[in-house]
Amino acid sequence: MSDQTNQRGNWNTKLGFVLAAAGSAVGLGNIWGFPTQVADNGGASFILIYVACCLIVGLPVMVAEFAIGRNTRRNPVGAFRKLGKGWFPPLIGLWGVLCGIMILSFYMVIAGWTFSFIFEQLFAQLGFMSASEWVTRMDSGPKNAFFAILFILATISIIVGGVSNGIERATKTMMPILIAVLVIMAAYVMTLEGSTKGLRMYLLPDFSLINTRLVFSAMGQAFFSLSIGMGALLTYGSYLRKNQNIVESATYVTLADMGIAFLAGLLVIPAMFVAENAGITIIGDDGRLYSSSTLVFDVLPGLFSSMGGLLAIVLGTAFFLLLSMAALTSTISLLEVPVSYVIDEHRVPRKKAAWLVGGLVMVLAVGVSFRTNMISFLYVIFNNVGLPLGGLMLSIFLAWSWKTRNALDELRHGFKNPEKSLFLRFWPAFVTYLSPALIALVLITTLYNLLGG
Ligand code: PHE
Repeated sequence: MSDQTNQRGNWNTKLGFVLAAAGSAVGLGNIWGFPTQVADNGGASFILIYVACCLIVGLPVMVAEFAIGRNTRRNPVGAFRKLGKGWFPPLIGLWGVLCGIMILSFYMVIAGWTFSFIFEQLFAQLGFMSASEWVTRMDSGPKNAFFAILFILATISIIVGGVSNGIERATKTMMPILIAVLVIMAAYVMTLEGSTKGLRMYLLPDFSLINTRLVFSAMGQAFFSLSIGMGALLTYGSYLRKNQNIVESATYVTLADMGIAFLAGLLVIPAMFVAENAGITIIGDDGRLYSSSTLVFDVLPGLFSSMGGLLAIVLGTAFFLLLSMAALTSTISLLEVPVSYVIDEHRVPRKKAAWLVGGLVMVLAVGVSFRTNMISFLYVIFNNVGLPLGGLMLSIFLAWSWKTRNALDELRHGFKNPEKSLFLRFWPAFVTYLSPALIALVLITTLYNLLGG
């Protein structure tokens, strides 16, 4: 958006908006989160439930966020306050602000790992072994904090300058190269011993593995990966012009996000078995991952090393560089939620707001840097519970307070033949009944199982 042209700014082009939203969606959630969840939940059966969560719950909620954002042209707190009555609606927005800050506190640490791994192959192939070992250390608090802070500073500097130009351009060039590198790597992995076992786990579902925990994880992963449930896409929608087709944009974003996650799994899951074949323990006796927050970082460097020489340097460096950029376009959207809240609701200038919220995230991220075992805990509370809960409140609010007929009026802007659209015909039933019911069912059964042992 260009803040000069009008008070709130707009995305420059239609494609620019789709790219920015896709940039928010595609990030560590796809390449670090998705393969990890697949491995931890038994493989292909997780993917089936995940796809269902994305299409039945995720896409309708994403459309709802865009509609609320564009209609109100406000940050999440202001948006719910404008459309609703009383003290409760703004709390939905505040919940998003809290989730954004808490997700950032650990996301930045993982993004910091990604950033430091850029240099691993370069150092290793050039023979600087101790330097290469240092950048891959994930148990060193000061090192984790250093790279997390670098990442936060990068995010703040982009947020301060206004978001659109950088994101639009970066995403446009980055996404195709990221896909190419993933395809090359996945093809290479297939040639290595052990990979077919991984491929089987990834593609052949074992339905007996589907249980409450798997569905709970799949739902949380869908929300996290699609960037929904905390108002990030609502905020991006608030910079949207009326001539853009929201439904079409949301569909592109959802499909791109699912496609890239699928590709990442096609690389990481077979790679995991290749590593296991080489004697590295990845999955424990209980069928669960040994160390879930570091899986990708444990498995991939070995793969690059096995290529050797220049190829290892080029692909290893490119991979972590691209992943860092993908993470950056996501951290920008995460930070934009609390920052736009502080700007709009507390009348603080953008620069000051960015440093204020960024500073808070920095303090939290330094804490997580020294206690990385907190990552899984924070992930469960703020991703798996926090985001679906946000999506649940948002759908209920839209359906029962703002009303789907008003939302449909908003969605018809930019839509060529709205009366012919099947999506628009069914969408009200999805956001009113199906999505909230499914989210509530998943959260309540999980809670019940937890309390009942
Ligand atoms: N979707 C982002 C990712 O996959 C993370 C994110 C979550 C961004 C929620 C914004 C809001 O990495």
